[in-house]
Parts: sequence; structure tokens; C-alpha cells
Amino acid sequence: MTEPVETHLKDYKRPDFNVETVELHADIFETETFVTASLGVRKSPEAADGVSLLLDGRELDLVSIELDGRVLTDGEYTLEGEVLTLPAAPDAFVLTTKVKIHPETNTSLEGLYFADGTFLTQCEAEGFRRITFFPDRPDVMGSYRCTVSADKGTYPVLLANGNLVDEGELSGGRHFATWEDPHKKPSYLFAMVAGDLACREDTFTTASGREVALKFYVDHQDADKCGHAIESLKKSMAWDEKTFGLEYDLDTYMVVATHSFNAGAMENKGLNVFNSKYVLAKPETATDMDFQGIEGVIGHEYFHNWTGNRVTLCNWFQLSLKEGLTVFRDQEFSSDMGSRAVKRIADVRGLRASQFAEDAGPMAHPIRPESYIEMNNFYTATVYNKGAEVIRMIHTFLGPEGFRKGMDLYVARHDGSAVACEDFIAAMEDASGVDLSRFRLWYSQAGTPKVTVTRAFDAETSRYTLTFSQKVPDTPGQANKKAMQIPVRMGLLGDDGAPVSLTLEGETSLGPLERVLSLSSDLESFTFTGVEKEPVPSLFRGFSAPINQVTDLTEAELIFLMAHDTDSFNRWDAAQQLYANTILGMVAELKKGEPLALSTDLVAAVQTTLTHPTLDKALIAQALTLPSETELGDRMAEIDVDGIHAAREFVADTLAVALKESWRSVYEACKEVGPYRPDTQSMAKRRLKGLCLSYLSRVESPAFVMDAFASAANMTDELAALTVLVGMDSPESDEAMDRFYGAWKGDTLVLDKWFTAQALSNRPGTLERVASLMEHPDFDIKNPNKVRALIGAFCQANPWHFHRLDGKGYDLLADTVIALNTINPSIAARMASGFNRWKRYDEKRQGLMKARLERIKGTENLANGVFEIVSKALA
Ligand code: TRP
Ligand code: ZN
Repeated sequence: MTEPVETHLKDYKRPDFNVETVELHADIFETETFVTASLGVRKSPEAADGVSLLLDGRELDLVSIELDGRVLTDGEYTLEGEVLTLPAAPDAFVLTTKVKIHPETNTSLEGLYFADGTFLTQCEAEGFRRITFFPDRPDVMGSYRCTVSADKGTYPVLLANGNLVDEGELSGGRHFATWEDPHKKPSYLFAMVAGDLACREDTFTTASGREVALKFYVDHQDADKCGHAIESLKKSMAWDEKTFGLEYDLDTYMVVATHSFNAGAMENKGLNVFNSKYVLAKPETATDMDFQGIEGVIGHEYFHNWTGNRVTLCNWFQLSLKEGLTVFRDQEFSSDMGSRAVKRIADVRGLRASQFAEDAGPMAHPIRPESYIEMNNFYTATVYNKGAEVIRMIHTFLGPEGFRKGMDLYVARHDGSAVACEDFIAAMEDASGVDLSRFRLWYSQAGTPKVTVTRAFDAETSRYTLTFSQKVPDTPGQANKKAMQIPVRMGLLGDDGAPVSLTLEGETSLGPLERVLSLSSDLESFTFTGVEKEPVPSLFRGFSAPINQVTDLTEAELIFLMAHDTDSFNRWDAAQQLYANTILGMVAELKKGEPLALSTDLVAAVQTTLTHPTLDKALIAQALTLPSETELGDRMAEIDVDGIHAAREFVADTLAVALKESWRSVYEACKEVGPYRPDTQSMAKRRLKGLCLSYLSRVESPAFVMDAFASAANMTDELAALTVLVGMDSPESDEAMDRFYGAWKGDTLVLDKWFTAQALSNRPGTLERVASLMEHPDFDIKNPNKVRALIGAFCQANPWHFHRLDGKGYDLLADTVIALNTINPSIAARMASGFNRWKRYDEKRQGLMKARLERIKGTENLANGVFEIVSKALA
């Protein structure tokens, strides 16, 4: 076996040859597929004399190869490993190859594959090389014309990117369709589909008056579940016109839904392919979260049409250029469609849970990584979500108008080309006049900066000083980092809760009530004048930077902020800090064998929030949701799995008992009448109702929750009740699981929820239950949604059971990784990262996890991606 090779950003060179035209013929049969590709190749004027053309190819069976119509003999090309070389290629020529591939047995879900009766493609990042020989890199851009042929009866729908230009019958019951994409694109945006799918259609008229046909292709049985996705697409199209002046550029926008997909969705030009989870929804089968997820992902893929497709990447190190920016755009879109504060809190919760952990582990990398072994491993929370935070900070420094000017300039300068993160930053600087030189460190330095804040009040001179010290932690391969430029959106609250004017020392006029401070060195102070009484600081409002804030705010001050901060996000964050301090304090007390007691002030604060007459109900629900066990663990030097579980349960039980009447009355008040609607207010009510139910389940009988389950009229309520019931050690629990299964056994997406609910249960024996569910006829290890729903949920979100001291949780994960290694290497690698934090646990658990990592590493034919994850974890 050859050691996997690492690819480095510093070695990047522009391509010697471009492929200007691609003419593809894919002839699909049940047991094999033939792909003929004619590539119009042109040598770059900068290329050296006599350079060879290199084409990537993976698992391709070469049938024939011709140059300008002449068959090449063995000596005229070489095929070694995954590279086909044409030595000393001419300046301009047509290269035609014919290959045989096997989509029908391709379980990697990359390249062309067959799943649930449909042939479809996934090319990002490096899947096109599984379809034909090609310089499979994003800086090679050409025009594509693609003809797909297949049996007409079995695969009546034949699609590819762009416009349908020809179709017709062939002999033997077959037919074909030819598609032409007028826009140049990199190979990773190529797509084709052959299947028997229903088509739901609608139209959108662009700002300039062009009518675009919207076509959603789904399984026939799902044709009634496309409405929300179609509405979301129309909203996305209108939003991008209004917010960024960006219009759609083809006459048709197609979306194909599949149950078998490695990721969420893919932005192929004019032909998105979606995980069905992000398309299909109706009130009986989808939760409010699903409805929101669909809106967000539909928006995300649509927004890629400009940020990713029209302006694309010169190499994969620049992935955040399209992903960070597009996540930022989809977050803004969702904020504008619903509640901005609620969206922000959800995003930050996610960032802290996954990205902060990644940044503190063996895979820590900057948003623009410097090297990779397997590109698929770098579709990370860092590149996506921290990348979006970096864009958001630019937005904060430039303001909305400056940012819009920067976007306009970026698109105008780079439309139709493949560029780098640096080009985006330069456009932002040039359009706004704001200097981002120090800010660029966010692209090259990994690790979550820690910002420690101290405060000093001088009553005599009415001066208030905030001192910030920052430290970017060492990460693998990176030590002694430089201070970052960090925006601090902040305010000061007087003791009546009223905001204080922020006049910086030396300023002559009264300052504003909120401002953005900019940190740019290790240690900095800001002094405000005219402050009569000691205020409470509200810092990093709206999570203005992706940092860990260390403050010495007291319980009383946090409770004060929870009640009075004018920034909704910071009200929520104060509550989270309060809970975390409380629970972690209890973990220490448990260690010492001391009895636990919950502060009455905290209980009163929760009561005030819960029964607040005017607060948004979704914000109330978020403010009363305790940090997860995983998040709490992240805040500990050595994660105490059992202590965290016990302390968190104690706090939840105590709040449930102490506020029983309030949980009950708010629960009743949130009950709705009338049909389900996925609007912001109704969703907020259902969310708070679900939270009340989970607290009530700690004090009420199982029959009470069973009643909620039985009377649920939509999936949001039904699943909220099921999730609570599954954790109750009672016959009702099993009965509910059986009833749910019986009702939904024909709907694979709903069954994913059934698997997840059981994986997240607190009940004893959950691990054994998960293991036996892996044998369930509806479980399928080849289906990534099933793997994520059952095993992913168990290993990532049920730490108390996963980290069992007998090591059986670890065995379950290791066995899964090893099984997936040959079936679907990219999902295997993703699952393997479940061991990444192993060094954060006690010695016993460390030993158990290390042994499993070594077992995986010793597996024969280990995929590069899995190798990369486990070898970095063990390093
Ligand atoms: N570009 C896709 C997105 O974020 C992500 C994606 C889809 C992907 N399919 C993939 C990434 C397969 C890696 C592998 O919109
Ligand atoms: Zn994306």
C-alpha cells in the first residue's frame, strides 16, 4: 500500500492546459455505463514548451483514446495509478476517450451512482474523475454539452446542466437527451440524472422580467411534499435580487431529490441535487426545524449560483471563498425571512458545538487550509461556519453599504473566473477603503482566540475602563500566533438597565449607546468618560466575533443581563453562561461528595423569563434550554462525562419541580387551534410548548406525555412528545415507539427521526438498542442519512451512553467506520472524527478510544480520508 500524499497550497500553479469544450456521451445500462468524452484542449500561453497534459481518472476502464480523431498507440500516453499522461501535448487539440464505469455498484455516492432506482452524479470535490478522464480541478473551466441515454421505460427522465437542446428515441427501447450549458464551469459543477421521477413545476419572474421555469424532480410518492421547497426557492431568488442585485442566469432551475446523498445538497449549475431531507416536507411528516432547514439549504444552493458558480475557486484551499460567503448569505436570508435573533442563537449554538470543538482538536485548520490528504475531509464547520463568521466580521467593519459595494466589485471583477480568498478581501478593501491587512490573519491562523476582559471603574473621575487581552491557542502545526483584528460590538448598562452613552476618552461629543471596538493587539484598553455609576458591560453583542470570551461577571450580573440587555443574543448568552457556571460548579461539588443545591436567584430568573409577557416565545425557549452535555464538556479541561450528566439532570429536575405550575400554564397557553402553519409565531409557540413538555415530563406521569403524543396534529408536536417519551423508563415509551413506527414505516425520512429518537434516549440499555436497530430491516448502512440518524446521533449527541466505561460505545463506532471504509469512505472518515476529542477524557477512556483508533488505522486498504482523520487524531 502506498502512503497517501498530502497536497499543499504553496505548491499551487495555474494549469498548463485548459479544457475549453467538453462533449460528453453517457450511455447508461443496467450493468455498465459507457462515457465518451471529447475535450477541446488548449495549452496556456504561459505553459513551458513540451509540458505533458495530466488527466485524473479513478476506477475507469479505458476502452479507447484518440487525439484529433487518430487512435493513440500504447507509447503515446501512459496510464499509471489515477493519472493519464499525454507527454508533450500539442497546443490545441481534441482528445476523445471512451471509458466503462459501474455506477450500479458504486456505493461511494461520488461520481455517477445508482440509488433507489435513479442514476445521478456527485462531482464536488473530485468526483468528475470517476466519470471520465479529465484535469479534475476547479481552475479548468469549459462549456459542456452532454448527451445521456438510457432505457426509456425505466428512466423516462434524462437531465444534465443547462438547456435541453435535443431529445429522441433510440433503438432497443432506449432514448436520449442532449443538454447544453451556456456558462463555462469547472468539472465539480457537472451533473446528470436518469430516473423515473415526478416533476413539480412553477415559475419565477426575475427583476428584469425574464420567466424562469422551476422544476423539482422527486419520487412519485413524494410529489405532494415539494411546496415548501418551491416557495423557498422563489423567496431566495427575490432576496438575492433585492439584497445583492443578483439575478438568475438560465431559463430553467432544476432540483433533484435523492434519499442517498453524502451531504446536504449540491449546487450543480442549473441542476441542483438535494438530499431529500432538504426538499420534502408537509406538516404531518416534517418538523418546524425541517421546514427551516429546507428554506436555508434551498437558499444556500441557490446563492451559490453567484458565489461559487459564476465566480468560482482556483483551488480547493479556497473552499471557504464560496462556502463561508454562501453560508453567510443563507444566514442573512433566513434572518430576513424569520426572526434574526432566533437564527443567530441557533447558528452560534451550532458553531460552539461543532466548530469550537474542531478548532480545539487534532483536525484544527484555518478557514483556508494549507494542506490536505483528502479534500472531502475539509468540508468542515471551520470552512463553512467559521468562514461565515469571518465574512460577518468584514460586514461588521464595513457596514451594510460598504459590504454591498465590495460584493458588487467582487462579482464585476471576477465573473466567469476562478479566484482566491485574497481576491474577495481585496475587492472588499478597494470598494470600501477599509484596511483589512491585519484582518487577513483570520484566513491563515487556526484556533479559537480567547479574549479575557477585565474592568475598572473610577467613581471619582467617572471613568470606566475595559481591558481586553487576546490569545490565539496553539494548534497542530501552528504555534506563537499573532494578535487578530477582532470586532467587539458592545454597550454598557446602567443599574436601571438603561444603556449608558459610550464616550471614549478624548472625544468631545456624547457618544452613541452602542459601538464597535476594534481589537488588534495582545492587550488593549478602552476608557469611557462620564460614567457616573459602575455599569454592567454587554460585550460581543450578537456574537460579533468567533472567540471564547472570559469574563468575571458574577451570577447577579449575568441574571441582570439576562433580564435587561437590549441585545437579544446577549440576553440568551448570559443565561447560557449562568447555566454553564452553575452546572460546572456542581460537577466540582459532586467530585468532592458535596450535596447539590440550585441558587434560588437562578430559579427566580428562569421563572421571570418563562412567564415574561412580551418576549418572543422562541427566545424564551432558547433562553431556557440548558447547554448540551457536549457543550459543557468542551468547557472542561478533562471532560467528566458522568459528573456533567448528573449535574445537568439535577438542574433540569430542580427547575421542573420548582416551576411546575409555570411550565404547566405556559404549556397550556402555547396550545394552538387551527391548522398547522410554518410561520415564525406558530413555530415559536410550538417550540416553547415542546420545551415545557420536556420539563413537565420530569414531574408528570408518562400518561401525560403519552396524551400529548397521541393528540399531536403535526410532526413537530408528535416528535417533541416522542423524544421525551423515549427517555422515560416506562411501557408508554415502547408503545409510542411502536405506534410511531407503524404509522410511518413507509416514509424513510420520518423513520430517520424514529432512529434518532432512540439513539438519543437516556434510558438504560440505549447502546444495546442502537446496536440492534442496526439490524433493523429499515436500517441501511449504505444510506448516509440512516448512518447519521442512528450512529451519528448516538456517538455525537449521546455522550453519556457513548462513553460507557465498558468501551462498547467505542466498539460500535469503530466497527461502523471499518464497515464504511469500503462502502463509503467519505462517510467513514466523517464518522471516524467521532474519536477526535479522545485526549480530553480520563485515562481509562483515553486508553479505550486510542485502542479503537489504532484498530481502525490497522485496517487493510484503509481509505485516504479515514487514514487522514485517524492518523492526525493519534499524532
Ligand atoms: N457544495 C455543497 C454545499 O455546501 C457541499 C457538498 C455537496 C459536498 N455534496 C458534497 C461536499 C459531497 C463534499 C462532498 O452546498
Ligand atoms: Zn455550499
